Amino acid sequence: MEKYPGKKKIAVFISGRGSNLKSLIKFSKKKNSLFEILLVVSNNLKAGGLNYAKKSKIKNFGIRYSNKTKFESQSLKLLKQYDLDLLCLAGFMKILSSSFIKKFSKPILNIHPSLLPKYKGLNTHSRAIKNKEKFAGASVHKVNQKLDSGKIILQKKVKILKKDNVRSLKKKVLKIEHEIYPKAIEKFLTNL
Ligand code: GRF
Repeated sequence: MEKYPGKKKIAVFISGRGSNLKSLIKFSKKKNSLFEILLVVSNNLKAGGLNYAKKSKIKNFGIRYSNKTKFESQSLKLLKQYDLDLLCLAGFMKILSSSFIKKFSKPILNIHPSLLPKYKGLNTHSRAIKNKEKFAGASVHKVNQKLDSGKIILQKKVKILKKDNVRSLKKKVLKIEHEIYPKAIEKFLTNL
């Protein structure tokens, strides 16, 4: 099923725009990249990110999220058809259950728009600005049973300037996300 023997095989879960997915696809196409993306799954059938997968001829699936149990059993069934090394969450806005994590049995990584362990969960940028933080950033971490709490693989920070607002900070951090996610995956895969 894989196109490039020798490369690690990953699946990506998304929920929306898919700019992180786009950066992962771009990186995975480099000759020396360590991984290839075998499939993309979105819980949102209208996710823009599904088009990046289509354009790149990567198998893509929209699985309607009527409830967690149904979504997880359907996506697990799908993932099990591929001999995957890793699952990457990229702007995937649902929380996976511990039963899913256990049953999948391979590692799962996530990208989060804050300098973890600070600002787990949603609205990271507005909270960081409100708290007058000097730095914001992005973190790639392993997914475990606790939200945004697994081992950190890679982080990068960016200065919060006086003139920054949620919008400008989001933009700056997103740029960093695109930069560190592929690097973090390679770092993680090298140590597997
Ligand atoms: C990113 O900031 C990601 O960290 C967060 O949601 C955003 C998704 O962006 N969880 P995209 O769908 O990858 O463009």
